[in-house]
Amino acid sequence: MKTLAVMSRKGGAGKTTVAVNLTLAARALGVRAVLADADPMRSAHEVLRGRDEAANLLVETSASKLFALTEASRRAGVELLVIDTPAAPEADVAEAVKVADLCLAVARPTYLDLAAAVLSVAVIQRLGREGLIVLNQCAPSRAGVEPPSVLKAFEALRFAHLPVAPTAMRARMVYQTAFAQGRSVLESDPQGAAAQEVRALFGQVWRRLNGERPAAMSSANDDLARARRGLILAPTA
Ligand SMILES: Nc1ncnc2c1ncn2[C@@H]1O[C@H](COP(=O)(O)OP(=O)(O)O)[C@@H](O)[C@H]1O
Ligand SMILES: [Mg+2]
Repeated sequence: MKTLAVMSRKGGAGKTTVAVNLTLAARALGVRAVLADADPMRSAHEVLRGRDEAANLLVETSASKLFALTEASRRAGVELLVIDTPAAPEADVAEAVKVADLCLAVARPTYLDLAAAVLSVAVIQRLGREGLIVLNQCAPSRAGVEPPSVLKAFEALRFAHLPVAPTAMRARMVYQTAFAQGRSVLESDPQGAAAQEVRALFGQVWRRLNGERPAAMSSANDDLARARRGLILAPTA
């Protein structure tokens, strides 16, 4: 079994959006995926509770129960456990990081979100885990040209040697309308651009979970200092 923790210190960055869509993308590909809602706000539960398969799709849990839950899920034959976490103090989210094979730090391409993601990466490193930053709510590219805010975010993260998923999720209304219907964007609009980016992101995450080693996660403190410098040198629009 593989375990994926989705985190961000900032509320509204898109943790629940990423967690729900990746879980349902995995299931659409036949992966036995379960979503653990570890956020007391229960947003994932709110989205998914009306679904017929809700009982084997979603588990409501808390930080202190995550270790036991991962063991039980493994025994039950779950192939992918996705943990949606709260924008909570470090100690709570650390429980999710500790059980995760990969942690996704979700960030909008803004200065404060990227600064928060840098700190999340520091926590992930300190706990000896793997991390990947996912940019969400990015302005769409036009005719293949990236908006400056997105370019600068990628540049700052690459400059800092922080691992970033090549696929950025765009700000698209369908992410919101799909949730209102208890669905993923793959179900709402299977051929749409949002579905394509979720499939692409899931592919990157799944390959990473299954051993593909991209550029190594930076480990030294000066990399984090470089990240902060990069953010300052390349402030987002
Ligand atoms: N890529 C996106 N495009 C449009 N709306 C988004 C996107 N990602 C998230 N949202 C919306 O932003 C709000 C916060 O997202 P959510 O996933 O709940 O964040 P978090 O779990 O980090 O607090 C929700 O209303 C959600 O529908
Ligand atoms: Mg949430």
